[in-house]
Amino acid sequence: MSDLVVADLVAGYGDARVLHGVSFTVREGEVCAILGPNGAGKTTLLRALSGVVRVRGTVTLGGTTLAGRSPDTIARHGVAHVPEGRGTFMPLTVEENLRLGAYVRRGGAEVEEDLGRIYTYFPVLKTRLKQAAGSLSGGEQQMLALGRALMLRPRLLLLDEPSLGLAPLVTRELFRIVQAINAEERTTVVVVEQNAHLALGIAQQAHVLETGRIVLSGTAAEIRADEQVAQSYLGYRV
Ligand SMILES: Nc1ncnc2c1ncn2[C@@H]1O[C@H](COP(=O)(O)OP(=O)(O)OP(=O)(O)O)[C@@H](O)[C@H]1O
Ligand SMILES: [Mg+2]
Repeated sequence: MSDLVVADLVAGYGDARVLHGVSFTVREGEVCAILGPNGAGKTTLLRALSGVVRVRGTVTLGGTTLAGRSPDTIARHGVAHVPEGRGTFMPLTVEENLRLGAYVRRGGAEVEEDLGRIYTYFPVLKTRLKQAAGSLSGGEQQMLALGRALMLRPRLLLLDEPSLGLAPLVTRELFRIVQAINAEERTTVVVVEQNAHLALGIAQQAHVLETGRIVLSGTAAEIRADEQVAQSYLGYRV
């Protein structure tokens, strides 16, 4: 099983520690939502999982140790990170961005096949192939970022605030696609979201992070049902 196991994870920037011993497991093929207020360390957690910040503690995927490896090595082990702000290359075309997503792979026929698969998930991208990524709408850019991540054929997809700055209709469409990817490709997903309602709608498990610690864990239904939790930890009703 390609479960993601995180145990006693400590991470930060320089001397500033942000994560103070985070532990959770995501079973292969499941969606896990990470919720919590601004500054809780959600982005730092995803950065720690993809090797962008230094960590102490345990991170394994399917038994392989990822903690302490370089971002490149972690990507080669099938971890794709769609960062906050999407990280698409604005001057490059849509097609160039998608092909870059396959950089850790050997290329060839499989890449062409995967491009086809991505156009099925995101038909709009196929109509924009030669357009610069910078000229896309916010929703299209988020779709491109997700499509590029899929070109890695990830076992684990890390999504940081995919709904940020997008209209509700576009956000719902995006989450519908993430759910389809999870169902059809069996890709494990860790999604950080301010929109708790949407994230809990596609997740099996959820964790609430506060000042670098998990203060609450449960099934998505449990977290959603707990109104007090919603008010204390999420700041609003879910
Ligand atoms: N590059 C950095 N250098 C130094 N400190 C940072 C850096 N990035 C984040 N921090 C600090 O780490 C803490 C956690 O930030 P992080 O971005 O992980 O929170 P977050 O939960 O993603 O917040 P938000 O909901 O606003 O995106 C904050 O105190 C932040 O100021
Ligand atoms: Mg963040």
